[in-house]
Amino acid sequence: MRAAGRIRTEDSCWYGAPSVTGILTLPGDGIGPEIMGPALQVLGALTSFDAEEHLFGGASIDANGVALTDEVLAAARDADAVLLAAVGGPKWDTTDPAKPRPEQGLLGLRKGLGLFANLRPVRAQPALYGASPLREERIAGTDLLVVRELTGGIYFGAKTRTRDSASDSCVYTREEVERIARVAFRAARRRVTSVDKANVLETSRLWREVVVDVHQSEFADVELEHVLVDNAAMQLVADPSRFDVILTENMFGDILSDEAAMITGSIGMLPSASLGSGGPGLFEPIHGSAPDIAGTGTANPLAMILSVALMLRHGLHLEAEAAAIESAVDRALAEGLRTRDLGGTATTAQATQAVLAHL
Ligand code: IPM
Ligand code: MG
Repeated sequence: MRAAGRIRTEDSCWYGAPSVTGILTLPGDGIGPEIMGPALQVLGALTSFDAEEHLFGGASIDANGVALTDEVLAAARDADAVLLAAVGGPKWDTTDPAKPRPEQGLLGLRKGLGLFANLRPVRAQPALYGASPLREERIAGTDLLVVRELTGGIYFGAKTRTRDSASDSCVYTREEVERIARVAFRAARRRVTSVDKANVLETSRLWREVVVDVHQSEFADVELEHVLVDNAAMQLVADPSRFDVILTENMFGDILSDEAAMITGSIGMLPSASLGSGGPGLFEPIHGSAPDIAGTGTANPLAMILSVALMLRHGLHLEAEAAAIESAVDRALAEGLRTRDLGGTATTAQATQAVLAHL
């Protein structure tokens, strides 16, 4: 499964003029705008594109009262790909269910575009072995992919709330599990580790049954194992290089991917791709809006820049350009580039220049 890299032919172009890729950009909040600029600079060094920028998340709440307007959702559907930086911040933090939250924009966009498959690659780079809180001999050689189901489960089940009680329901259907399992099996090189909590949760028992069915009927040549989520969390720090593809449901994937990020040295290193079955994909770093360092010019732009690489690969089918960005990032790190989160002093602008210099 790949997001369709639709090439938009614009009505207004000259006859015969090449069509231009249309990217919807959503800088969002906090450090979002500071890392979006560098991402577009890197993209612009490789290909020509049209960018249409909109307010999103907290910035959209301030301007429009909601985190995602119908207009932005429609613009996203029309784009060839959506590039998102980060949303949220203390200004909009609330426990009042009646108040809008920036995260609703993100969830609305994922659901509205049907982006059920979230890919989060985690690669330990030799240059950053020393930046991880885990010992080098543990993390060396880690190259795994978290395949997270993104539009179902407890994130989207019915919610209730009274003053003294609250509930979130977790629902999965066979079809939802089948389609994400197929994504994981197709991406696997060695093995799929399906992570669930089948010893407790009914949804996990269905999950496990369906994954076994898909495996037996379509991917019997790929190795499959089942690991309970608590045990998976432990193995991720004890022996991360044993994993190839981790296939899991929405909330487990959210938690395990933050944990896995530390293998790379910083959550500021991890990009993600969210794909559906056609239509534009959404590409964003897994980290948040880091309000504590917003405006200081010190945010690590690499996860955002690597999200551009995933956009080129999965959204626009430009594999050579995607690989060029990844290798430029690798070489910049090998030469010593370190932003603050990685224990160095490079600013956002310096990190961007270092990547551009190696493109
Ligand atoms: C992520 C984030 C989001 C999620 C939040 C911001 C809603 O943590 O993309 O991992 O929970 O999915
Ligand atoms: Mg998360």
